[in-house]
Amino acid sequence: MKKHVKNNVSWVGYIDWELQWFHGNDYSIMNGSSQNAYLIQEEKTVLIDTVWAPHRFEFVENLKKEIDLSKIDYIIANHGETDHSGALTALLDEIPGTPVYCTANAVKSLEGQYGKRGWNFHVIKPGETLDIGNGKQLVFIPMTMIHWPDSMATYMTGDNILFSNDAFGQHFAVEELFNDKANQSLLMKEALKYYVNIVNPFSPMVARKLKEIEGMNLPIDIIAPSHGVIWRDHPEQIVQKYAEWSQPYQENQVTIAYETMWEGTAKIARAIAAEISKQSPDTVVKVYNVAKADKNEIMTEIFKSKAICVGSPTCVNEILSTMSGWLTFLKELKFRNKKAAAFGCYGWSGESVKILKERLADAGFKVIDEEIKSNWNPDEEDFAKVPALVESLLS
Ligand code: FEO
Repeated sequence: MKKHVKNNVSWVGYIDWELQWFHGNDYSIMNGSSQNAYLIQEEKTVLIDTVWAPHRFEFVENLKKEIDLSKIDYIIANHGETDHSGALTALLDEIPGTPVYCTANAVKSLEGQYGKRGWNFHVIKPGETLDIGNGKQLVFIPMTMIHWPDSMATYMTGDNILFSNDAFGQHFAVEELFNDKANQSLLMKEALKYYVNIVNPFSPMVARKLKEIEGMNLPIDIIAPSHGVIWRDHPEQIVQKYAEWSQPYQENQVTIAYETMWEGTAKIARAIAAEISKQSPDTVVKVYNVAKADKNEIMTEIFKSKAICVGSPTCVNEILSTMSGWLTFLKELKFRNKKAAAFGCYGWSGESVKILKERLADAGFKVIDEEIKSNWNPDEEDFAKVPALVESLLS
């Protein structure tokens, strides 16, 4: 179903209220999502992006209700990942030969996924323009590593719309499309979760790209990403947030993440939380069992933190397995500017705290020397070490 965006620009995407996971099972979806595609009907007719492959036939049928497909002059593929390119096969079966504008890396991505089908690719040059009539042009802006090597954005002059693809998106279903129609706190929560779990590893490149776009002096009235709301009310607000988040970000928060076998490590986690509140009542403290809490929600809290404490008991010379996978994801997200401490119980060999410290250092955290390593269950001697650990973490 087509929805009006501005003048001759419409949304023709798919609002996915049932989606529960993204990137396999690596990103939890709590409030639906969308794959946003856009139709521009100026003197030239342009389609920007499509939808995920499972919705490709519905997408093409809906598009047919709006226009004669043969009237599409150009397809812009801002990004090759299948959530945006998944309907290209069904669409180009109907209109073979239609030019597909994309980056050189997107050609690799599209042919890698769908095979060499003889599509009429036009590889864009940075800053290249495409005249679409009525005095309007499209300008192509590579967005390399925001968030994959093939990503780009498309800017439309005249209407001043930045079709930013994944940048500035959220996994958040809003049937009314626009940011001013959404629950504001939920919108910013989802925008942050999306940034942390998808964009954060590329933050240095985000900061450079924001400066580059700022230097282009493009008036931007609307930012139309490929997921979530369209930013029409003060679109600069999400640009400002990206400028903040792309720095080594931290708030006055400490997050404690642990896994436990028989509650001993959990007791240490709670003791550390209580001591943080005692020593620094203004510091926000969050405590999560990584085997029970949502991984992406915890990572969002880690991003906000100035320090973290990570705990696991020793089990057969190792840390527990959910914690091990969790630490792999922690490293992948490339957090910066954060301290870390380790703690855990053991019965026999007792390697967990050493392993945690090594893994945290490898993930880029500044690991403090203080630790709580408790044989069997934590006792008074172990709890007596908590204040020094907290003091070092907060200093
Ligand atoms: Fe929304 Fe990188 O795909």
